[in-house]
Amino acid sequence: MRIRKQCALIALQDVKLYLNEEGGQIAVFDATNTTRERRELILNFAQDNAYKVFFVESVCDDPDVIAENIREVKVSSPDYPEKDRESVMEDFLKRIECYKVTYQPLDPDEHDKNLSFIQVIDVGRRFLVNKVQDYIQSKIVYYLMNIHVHSHSIYLCRHGESHHNVQGRIGGDSELTENGKQFAAALKAFVEEHHLSDLKVWTSQLCRTIQTAEELGVPYEQWKILNEIDAGEYEEMTYKMIEETYPEEYAMRDQDKYHYRYPGGESYQDLVQRLEPVIMELERQGNVLVICHQAVMRCLLAYFLDKSADDLPYLKCSLHTVLKLTPVAYGCKVDMFDLKVQAVNTHRDRPLVTVNEVPPTFLRRNSFTPLSSQDQIKRPRLYSAGNHTQPCGSHAPTFPSMQFSEVSEGAELQKKCVKGL
Ligand code: F6P
Repeated sequence: MRIRKQCALIALQDVKLYLNEEGGQIAVFDATNTTRERRELILNFAQDNAYKVFFVESVCDDPDVIAENIREVKVSSPDYPEKDRESVMEDFLKRIECYKVTYQPLDPDEHDKNLSFIQVIDVGRRFLVNKVQDYIQSKIVYYLMNIHVHSHSIYLCRHGESHHNVQGRIGGDSELTENGKQFAAALKAFVEEHHLSDLKVWTSQLCRTIQTAEELGVPYEQWKILNEIDAGEYEEMTYKMIEETYPEEYAMRDQDKYHYRYPGGESYQDLVQRLEPVIMELERQGNVLVICHQAVMRCLLAYFLDKSADDLPYLKCSLHTVLKLTPVAYGCKVDMFDLKVQAVNTHRDRPLVTVNEVPPTFLRRNSFTPLSSQDQIKRPRLYSAGNHTQPCGSHAPTFPSMQFSEVSEGAELQKKCVKGL
């Protein structure tokens, strides 16, 4: 118990470091916070540091769900390097019995009636929400009420090649080329081969995604918010035309592609916010095929694969390729299917900037959305208060590419400490 408490204290120091020094906005303190004494410790810590606390308690008595959870989550957890399924099951069931001895559930009627929390009962069959204090907490409730744990896959692809793609023009609403039509036919074969009979199909309201879906011969839903990034005054121009006519704007986009907003149009940051309802609906649904666009697909992919705002606008989403994303415990499995239909390349690599030629910073009014914190770019956390071997901010390998997490774009400035039970 002494060692465990020590670990919790070190983890709380990590929370503090993350919120106070690393630009973090919300920290999830996921631990066995099952006693009042432990929760008191966390509340005191939060009070000393002026953080708000929102508890998340998951209560589940269903033996089948528990067994499934142990199989899916615990076997692959670092607690059990041996991976012998039977012994893991036995050990974890024993652990639950031990926890039961000291477990003091949140008490909404008496002892904990003034705390902010959500109790998730039987993995979402019922919820009890108490004292939600602000926007972020209500978003957490909204999120937890929408996710589910049933296995499902999300298929992402772009429309078939369009005439504008071939001409190198961005935006617009052009039709499919012959290659594009062939892709639509190949996509139909793909859906049939994979026996995706219960599949929902979503498109944008632009002609090229609708034409692609029409070929499938199944019902589909059109979402306006899945339309491609709005390039405003530069719609239907080529990158070369933009570079020659508006060199400063072109340079600004290269400097910070995520935050750059086209005059009269959108930025990637705007797009991420626009897509939130689609993302939430993808969390709620079973198998869905989303036929969308380059920038939109990057945003969806970044959400499921936990990519940073800096990397998001450069993710490779080639035409005529289907990505299958399957959420699993602590991550998302990715399968890629190249449907082998020729198409032009519409991807522009990140421009290379050498140390000596850092471009001047251009700013146009209305070209950026104000940042919600000084540092929105996620960095790997190598430094922990419990491990001083690597200094904070040192160069390190990037995040594992298959981690799952919410793309956090909230404009909330207050720092929060969210505690998981
Ligand atoms: O070129 C195809 C396209 O979908 C354009 O309509 C869109 O403006 C562009 O890709 C987005 O990609 P990027 O952000 O790399 O310019």
